[in-house]
Amino acid sequence: MKTILVLNGPNLNRLGLREPGVYGHQTLVDLENTLHEEAAKLNAQVICKQSNHEGQLIDWIHEYADDVAGLVINPGAFTHYSYAIRDAIASVSYPVIEVHISNVHARETFRHHSVTAPVTKGQIVGLGLQGYHLALLALLSEGDKS
Ligand code: DQA
Repeated sequence: MKTILVLNGPNLNRLGLREPGVYGHQTLVDLENTLHEEAAKLNAQVICKQSNHEGQLIDWIHEYADDVAGLVINPGAFTHYSYAIRDAIASVSYPVIEVHISNVHARETFRHHSVTAPVTKGQIVGLGLQGYHLALLALLSEGDKS
């Protein structure tokens, strides 16, 4: 059974409360519950974690290096400036997909650039929470010939 790690970065514990016009009304618990359900239907499992701390996110990226088939990560604002998270992603061999709930390109200029995206397999932006599900599907189909 494949295991996919799902990491959410700073302020994403405030989903549902935080700027609902941008991030929607669903909470992090709602998101994680639906990811667990979806993974189970696909005969897989997810490990979901959230931290507001850069070093904690880096530790998890390292810690699961031998245990997971991929990583879905929304690094929050760290996306735009954390070379440390970028280097952590570059240090592991499992595929990584970066997700942003909002369309960062339609927002402030500082959100347009991701320092982490170049070391990921791909990026999903602006599709709301559906982005996490699409990333999960993509990682679970890694290695399929179709
Ligand atoms: C975000 C976009 C970032 O710019 C922001 O700092 C976040 C959330 C998103 O999911 O749209 O915290 O990553």
